[in-house]
Amino acid sequence: MANLERRARGVARVLVDEAAIQGRIRELAAGLDRRYQGEPPLMVGVLNGAVAFLTDLMRAMTVPVEIDFMAISSYGASTKSTGVVRILKDLNNEIEGRQLLVVEDIVDSGLTLDYLLDVLRRRNPAEIRVVALLKKEKPGAIEVQVDEIGFTIPDEFVVGYGLDYAGLYRNLPYIAVLDPSLIKS
Ligand code: IMP
Repeated sequence: MANLERRARGVARVLVDEAAIQGRIRELAAGLDRRYQGEPPLMVGVLNGAVAFLTDLMRAMTVPVEIDFMAISSYGASTKSTGVVRILKDLNNEIEGRQLLVVEDIVDSGLTLDYLLDVLRRRNPAEIRVVALLKKEKPGAIEVQVDEIGFTIPDEFVVGYGLDYAGLYRNLPYIAVLDPSLIKS
């Protein structure tokens, strides 16, 4: 009931509620804590979508971590990938020899992550691992490295918990499907 009462205008259906997200983050964090007992990893968040996930994930972890961010061109006000990816903001850190943990909000076609991993690999980090909160069950998506997945979801456009439609809805604490009448194709 709580979710229904708090549901934002335009939201048709809650796909993953707040408790499920936070519970899964605790599980992922426990696994990451075990993995990074030695050297602190550099968590690389992809702006703006991964901000909610990265900040909750790092606070659920107990090992020391560093964080950095990259911004990559997004879909703008469209719900379809253009396949055009470019760096809008680069990392502040040198990553050669580092253990990277790339934190992504969602893997849809896989194009964005594929491009990002290619850029990062060329800088010779010691290791790259990828954690994505969501992965869509998408026919025809490209094969891309994802080591940990929060939730696998159907091939629908979703918003909330960092994910936007035309810049909005990132602040929702849950993952939701929008009312289709709001979406311009
Ligand atoms: P991909 O390149 O198609 O894998 O898409 C990756 C990026 O597109 C994500 O990091 C998101 O920023 C955005 N994106 C993909 N699917 C959705 C969605 O359902 N809602 C909101 N943003 C999405």
